Amino acid sequence: MFTTPLIAAPMAGGTTTTELALAAQDAGAFAFAAGGYKTADQLAAHIAPLRSAGIDFGVNLFVPRTAPLTSVQLIELSEYRTKLRTTAGLYGAAVPEELLAEDDPRVQDYWAQKIALLLADPVALVSFTFGLAPAEVVEQLHNVGTQVLASVTSVAEAVAAAKSGADALVVQHANAGGHSAAFLAATGTPPVAGAVEASGSGSSGNGSSGGRSSMKPATLPQLISEVRSEVLLPLVGAGGISTPEDVKAVLAAGAESAAIGTALIRTNESGARLLHKNALGDPSYTDTAITRAFTGKPARALINDFVRDYTDAAPHAYPDVHFATAPLRAAAAAQNNPRALNLWAGSGWKSARTGPAAAVIAGFLQFL
Ligand SMILES: Cc1cc2nc3c(=O)[nH]c(=O)nc-3n(C[C@H](O)[C@H](O)[C@H](O)COP(=O)(O)O)c2cc1C
Repeated sequence: MFTTPLIAAPMAGGTTTTELALAAQDAGAFAFAAGGYKTADQLAAHIAPLRSAGIDFGVNLFVPRTAPLTSVQLIELSEYRTKLRTTAGLYGAAVPEELLAEDDPRVQDYWAQKIALLLADPVALVSFTFGLAPAEVVEQLHNVGTQVLASVTSVAEAVAAAKSGADALVVQHANAGGHSAAFLAATGTPPVAGAVEASGSGSSGNGSSGGRSSMKPATLPQLISEVRSEVLLPLVGAGGISTPEDVKAVLAAGAESAAIGTALIRTNESGARLLHKNALGDPSYTDTAITRAFTGKPARALINDFVRDYTDAAPHAYPDVHFATAPLRAAAAAQNNPRALNLWAGSGWKSARTGPAAAVIAGFLQFL
């Protein structure tokens, strides 16, 4: 399925620019465009140069939630929004009064429009995260010659994804930076409770992870082998990969390719905020944690004041919490203050290098 064992993972929210995807391709990685948060027009513009380059690439989409918030979640969200107002005020920002309707295109992440775009003008691969694409969408994509990848975080999710018609799986370990792909709450690797779950030592991408239940695979290679023994589809390993040895271990465990995200955040072509890039190189950050504080969905980030102050209170309410915290995060960024920013980072963040993406990719590929 892939012509290279290294994949530049999709990173929505600005990090995966067209330039980063092109640079990754040029350097010998398989590139994924990041379709999350974008309108269909923005996605079309994002991938137009990749189409022109004539090399296969993938497009990643967020699967929207299938049910509105429950009354309990709505109460928790309301309480959280009240709490957020304290910090928002400190930054001169306001928590939006409006709660978006379930059928608002922003809540649905412009799903229908982006699927229509990808059916009208197909790409080689489409990957999904936050859930499984409905069977009819998988079939429609297959009919236009597109292969479908599902993102999973556990054996149970892998089995469900295989049944959904996916052609391959992205197997994401909880050490991954940014949002977890988990969609089966009872079996996904991120904690269901709100408490901060810190990473392990942070020095090794695939080291053991403090605070995690012994039921969950401690390393990405372990998770790959567990999935491998249950599912025959090609696998892509992701989460905490920071050295060529990590890639080799993932391949040896049965994956066809390994995906890197955090390792590319600080590169020249990455569109991450400078504050984010600099934070990854700042020794005053000592660990990462999984938190719902920024978006209402578990995501791994550097531990800053916002993570410390808001993780316990954050409800399961994605994307409502994302929209509630957005003005606050924008104000903090405008004030050059990383304390309330979502500094997404995988457990291998200390190894993320500055410079051209090509150099980072070459560093991984030269030992394979
Ligand atoms: C800044 C950032 C944004 C991300 N955005 C997405 C996304 O839009 N879609 C997705 O499937 N995964 C997303 N991820 C997860 C990555 O695709 C990948 O699974 C992860 O980065 C791998 O772990 P690593 O960061 O430790 O290398 C994101 C990760 C980061 C760090």
